[in-house]
Amino acid sequence: MPTNLSLLDNSQIQAYLKNRSLKIGVVGIGRIGLPTALCIANSGLETIGIDINEKLIAMVNSKNYPLKDEPEFDKIFDNVISQKKLSATTDITNAIPKCDVVILSLPTPMNNQNVPDYTALLTVGKNLNKLLSNGQIVIVESTVEPGFIENELLQAIEGPNHSLKSGVDFHLAVCPETANPGEIMKDFQKLPRLVGSIDTKISPIVSALYTYVFGVELIQMPNCKTANAVKLTTNVFRDINIAFVNELAILFEKLGIDTYAVIEAAKRKYNFQPHFPGPGVGGPCLPVNSYQYLNSSKKFDTNFLKIVQEARKINENMPQHTIDLLIDAFHESNKSLENSTITLLGVSYKPNVHDIQIAPSEIIIKLLNEKNVKLKIFDPFFISENVFGNNTEKSLSDALTDTDAVVIITAHKEFDDLHLENILDSTNKPILVDCTGKINPIHAKSHGIIFRGIGRGGI
Ligand SMILES: NC(=O)c1ccc[n+]([C@@H]2O[C@H](COP(=O)([O-])OP(=O)(O)OC[C@H]3O[C@@H](n4cnc5c(N)ncnc54)[C@H](O)[C@@H]3O)[C@@H](O)[C@H]2O)c1
Repeated sequence: MPTNLSLLDNSQIQAYLKNRSLKIGVVGIGRIGLPTALCIANSGLETIGIDINEKLIAMVNSKNYPLKDEPEFDKIFDNVISQKKLSATTDITNAIPKCDVVILSLPTPMNNQNVPDYTALLTVGKNLNKLLSNGQIVIVESTVEPGFIENELLQAIEGPNHSLKSGVDFHLAVCPETANPGEIMKDFQKLPRLVGSIDTKISPIVSALYTYVFGVELIQMPNCKTANAVKLTTNVFRDINIAFVNELAILFEKLGIDTYAVIEAAKRKYNFQPHFPGPGVGGPCLPVNSYQYLNSSKKFDTNFLKIVQEARKINENMPQHTIDLLIDAFHESNKSLENSTITLLGVSYKPNVHDIQIAPSEIIIKLLNEKNVKLKIFDPFFISENVFGNNTEKSLSDALTDTDAVVIITAHKEFDDLHLENILDSTNKPILVDCTGKINPIHAKSHGIIFRGIGRGGI
């Protein structure tokens, strides 16, 4: 029988934590859920990772860790697995009744009409209706729209006939995850967390658990929807500001101004927060979070949050702008883009991660495929694989051989010391388009390269 933590006072809860007598289930052990489960297990609490992906479960149980792009992950993984504090299973029916606390780290993507898709949470919620008892606490870490927990997930868990009662048979809380892929283990140890719950007496219990595991500050929010609004606000703030700087970048290209020089100087002012232009905004968070807010607002008025709508349009146009820069460079070189060979460096949506969800590279590749160019794609995280229907190269030098133009899409650290001489060797009128700000335009030009860079006016 799971422990009903809501009936315990703080000192009793602390004793349970100290004695490591709580069992925690984490449903969804992907990019966020697996590191979460590992940290909980590493704190000494017995942890069960639950997922529908059989291959992933087999990997974890055979001590073969995924997420090889997450620094520090390997050390903690080996430690936890050797102490046998973490087990993984696909059998949710068997696992949930054993857990005192259930954390949901399920995906919240959107469909191809940009409508948020909460199927995974609602499916698991309906399942929990048959599995919860005795006041177990369910904590949602997934990113959702404000109100989803109160209006949809709660009903799914209670069931159509209210066979479970919130506040009695189970308790529902949120603790939205804010870690950054590529820095997850570091962020887990330093970023404050938000906590909100349906029944306010549950938030301190969630705080006690997360303080014990992560040792970070817990910010108590008045309810679930406010906590979820904070999470969306921080990400949508970034989406909007990147759109602003992307639009400025296009203007500055025309005005002959270097956007990076502007940002460098502007950030000397204490209340300016730098954001940088690029080929678009991808990943499972920022674009989805903007559409989550738009989904919430359109229930009231489709004219709400116009700034978010415009930001999305601007950021979604950046792959086309990248192609426009490439066409312009080909024009200067008097070569034809059609039937040329183009090298793309980087497909991940952000530097130094193995992740192509909603990556701008997908649109860039699609637009170039429509122009009948031959593509050579290199990404250190996707060696000799098929990405968006194209085979990737096995080495950087292969990618830079026999090509007409190079486009740097992702600022992976492997491209930090890209030798411009390599690009020069491959072609007599080398073209380089930089979406990342990595290449110094003056340096490139001094090598005789026909250079274009997003936001690089005045070169
Ligand atoms: N990745 C990020 O950068 C990040 C950062 C902060 C918050 N988040 C949020 O965290 C949540 C999880 O994101 P993620 O990146 O870890 O996703 P992910 O896709 O990497 O992992 C989700 C896992 O859930 C599993 N799953 C799907 N349906 C299931 C079901 N019905 N039952 C059991 N398991 C199921 C999948 O197999 C997968 O392993 C999302 O809401 C996301 O928005 C993500």
